[in-house]
Amino acid sequence: PARIRTVHLRRFKEEGRRFAMLTAYDAQIASIFDEAGVEVLLVGDSASNVMMGRSTTLPITVEEMLVFSRSVVNGAERALVVADVPFGSYEASAQQAVETGVRFMKEAEVHAVKVEGDASMAGHVRAMVSAGIPVMAHVGFTPQSEHALGGYRVQGRGDAAARVLADARAMQEAGAFCVLMEMVPSDVAAEVEAALDVPTIGIGAGPATTGQVLVWQDMMGMTPGRLPRFVKRYADLRGTVAAAAAAYAEDVRSGAFPAEEHGF
Ligand code: KIV
Ligand code: NA
Repeated sequence: PARIRTVHLRRFKEEGRRFAMLTAYDAQIASIFDEAGVEVLLVGDSASNVMMGRSTTLPITVEEMLVFSRSVVNGAERALVVADVPFGSYEASAQQAVETGVRFMKEAEVHAVKVEGDASMAGHVRAMVSAGIPVMAHVGFTPQSEHALGGYRVQGRGDAAARVLADARAMQEAGAFCVLMEMVPSDVAAEVEAALDVPTIGIGAGPATTGQVLVWQDMMGMTPGRLPRFVKRYADLRGTVAAAAAAYAEDVRSGAFPAEEHGF
């Protein structure tokens, strides 16, 4: 199947077609989502939480992200693969942003990177784009700024709506091929989607965006505990995996596994 490219996402918007993005962090899951027809795979820095057991995305390193990114690229034939540039690896200067983006393109061979930030990051994004690095911008609630923003909260309520729109416009202007909005009121996200030429992707941003994204472990029931309200659960993999692990352990203890046919 022909590779999905950034130009196709733009075309989807023009044609009024929606597309799906899911996170992925390893080759097997990437190949499953790829074969299922998911158009975009995001190697999110949410790997810090869901893969590495940390409580925020902030500590994940470029080296760690490169391993996850390489793995997803290896597993995906058709999907566009986008990797998050982690906290601390791009903010200091446009040069640092280009150098980090180049590492992702060169060492992991991802097709694009995602950059969190408001309009103040537009210069960095512009430099990355002119270096040949396709950039997806991430505005609204940006988890890398959790401590600066005062926790997990909806962005763009009331007067702040204009700021989300201004940030999105600045990112499009800087050359971003797509703008992702996280935890933004649905009406504000609809306004941004209508105002931009490039497609937008939402997570907790309502139904108007061209694309939607979720963390796969959240939507497939791997993540324990309470989930954000924007998650819809499509499977109970934690239950399935736990039951299989318990059945295996019980079989080992009772001697039911391995049986005759499992031996040589
Ligand atoms: O890291 C991530 O998984 C993300 C998505 C939730 C948008 O940035
Ligand atoms: Na992220």
